[in-house]
Amino acid sequence: TFVVIENCIKCKYTDCVEVCPVDCFHEGPNFLVIDPEECIDCTLCEPECPAEAIVPEDDIPEGQEDFLELNAELSRQWPVITTRKEPPADAEEWDGKPDKLKYLER
Ligand code: SF4
Ligand code: F3S
Repeated sequence: TFVVIENCIKCKYTDCVEVCPVDCFHEGPNFLVIDPEECIDCTLCEPECPAEAIVPEDDIPEGQEDFLELNAELSRQWPVITTRKEPPADAEEWDGKPDKLKYLER
């Protein structure tokens, strides 16, 4: 499966959702996740993310391993998103900021 990692938080560009052939992105207030039970590893979403926040599960950056389980957990709670929407107005300011997990809204 592919996994959405920390840099999506507060960036949430949503370019990723348009290319997924199996609609496995789920949307929360300031973060997206991938449903690992639906993802078919097509790889299409990975290059779409301007924040480089989508990685294969065997390539999760050190320290962000918990995002694998977080994607599974939140995809069971959040609704599916299939259409791109405007990112937050301050998305660019947050791109690349460290330690954003504490800002995750559920
Ligand atoms: Fe969807 Fe393919 Fe990305 Fe998996 S790898 S989330 S199937 S676009
Ligand atoms: Fe997040 Fe990147 Fe998609 S910032 S919403 S994973 S395009």
